[in-house]
Amino acid sequence: MNEPVTSLIPLPRAVNGSAGSFRLETTTSLSADPGAEAVSGWLRAALGPATGCPLPPGEGGIRMRLDPGLPPEGYLLDVTPAGVHIGGGSAAGVFYGAQTLRQLLPPAALRRAAISAGPWEIPAQRITDEPRFAWRGVLLDVARHFMPVSDVLRFIDLAVFHKLNVLHLHLTDDQGWRIEVPGLPRLTEVGSWRSASMLGSRGHERYDGRPHGGYYTTADLREIVAFAAARHITVVPEVDMPGHMQAAIAAYPELGNGFAGPVRSAWGISEHVLNVGPEALDFCRAVLDHVCDVFPGELIGIGGDECPTTEWRDSPSARQRIRAEGLAGPHELQPWFTARLAEHLATRGRRLFGWDEILAGGAPPGAVVAAWRGRAPTTHAVRAGHQVVACPDIAVYLDYRQSDDPGEPTPVGTRLTLADVFAFDPVPDGLSESEAALVLGGQANVWTEHLESARRVDYQAFPRLCAFAETVWGPPGRDFAGFSARLPAHLARLDALGVGYRPLTGPRPWDARPDAPGHPRDLAGRLAELHEMTAGLRRVAT
Ligand code: ACM
Repeated sequence: MNEPVTSLIPLPRAVNGSAGSFRLETTTSLSADPGAEAVSGWLRAALGPATGCPLPPGEGGIRMRLDPGLPPEGYLLDVTPAGVHIGGGSAAGVFYGAQTLRQLLPPAALRRAAISAGPWEIPAQRITDEPRFAWRGVLLDVARHFMPVSDVLRFIDLAVFHKLNVLHLHLTDDQGWRIEVPGLPRLTEVGSWRSASMLGSRGHERYDGRPHGGYYTTADLREIVAFAAARHITVVPEVDMPGHMQAAIAAYPELGNGFAGPVRSAWGISEHVLNVGPEALDFCRAVLDHVCDVFPGELIGIGGDECPTTEWRDSPSARQRIRAEGLAGPHELQPWFTARLAEHLATRGRRLFGWDEILAGGAPPGAVVAAWRGRAPTTHAVRAGHQVVACPDIAVYLDYRQSDDPGEPTPVGTRLTLADVFAFDPVPDGLSESEAALVLGGQANVWTEHLESARRVDYQAFPRLCAFAETVWGPPGRDFAGFSARLPAHLARLDALGVGYRPLTGPRPWDARPDAPGHPRDLAGRLAELHEMTAGLRRVAT
């Protein structure tokens, strides 16, 4: 009898060991019933080069099939000495069963070429598994630092290795516009690059003196979408508006409120926001039309966070809009604007996805909220009847520093250790059952002001994303000691996958960034700030 497997991440619901083992051989075949063929093709491609086992089609060996009796994303993985059966409630379920199978093999099976002849032995066992949440997301900010397509595809593969199923792609910001839009060439000619980048966090006023840029063509984005879809990941695109728009305004100054300047080199929030005239709205609709053409998912992100109203207070056209629409003041312009975007998306059969600032003044009906300003906005969103994705900065912002070690690269935000991320639960205390049902799940956000390369993304994301995956896949009542005991075996898998994760022992000398100093925050100070920032939501709720 094998001991129950203890090193899988995320931890499955149930693992029952049995006698013997299955050995993957060069002659082992792989068959797939209708609906599971694509997953079998993916597994063949994933395992073949490293194991030398080509897994030809045929009976016996590994068999995949859909099992309508299982939950939609659930699977049953049965390993016996005679063969491996993977049943899934859907193709996604079969895919997650296949991901578990990969983790059960020796780590060398995860490499891209053979370094070992095996044996590729899997202890006999029966695993039944299903996720707790339907939204197991990760945000990648490709605006602050552009990531080549190959790095995005690699990141998707790492996300699905941990059974995540949503990639929120933050495509535009003050510091760069990364999506080609037909008919608006200056967005990429001008908006996709900046002359320099701030080094480290604000307050130090250091710059690197080096241009930074890049953008995705429509073909690039279609490739990302298709690659993700083949791995059961939905890409949720975000074009941030009406704030975080300085790159677009640098390209088309007529979209702004008099600003005529460059794409922003400093981090932080620009005061240069879209105007609220008809041309700016038409621009937004045209961009969203293109986004809808490229991204097939129901949800389209319009951002909506951190939009200063300073320029609107001084703008004759904003005052005219306020009068014409009967609004109470500049603070009502953003809700008005967001409602227009929601109406437009509805004409395309899509729903609006926005940061929790869209709750101020009432988010459009049917909007899905990404609740980031601490934990309170998740509660506010569900009490206003919205579906919500919980991504509080103080729990799951993976750009935040991992320890108090002064050698952490560009330490920003509050300290978020592996244990802190593991302790995250998307459902806040005090929700009724029907309110909790509106929490679609959780999302870890990888903001990249201080992550200029895939290597830096690896360091910030791993192994914390492994802990996060367990919080959104597994049932509540998790055990950090158990996770920690499984982690070393999992880190050997990440080694084989070439992930530059942060060592559990802390940063190495070469991880430090003395050239790019940070700004560590303490939790009490941040909580007070968040309380202040979300005061408007409390006024709406009461
Ligand atoms: C955000 O962190 N501004 C969503």
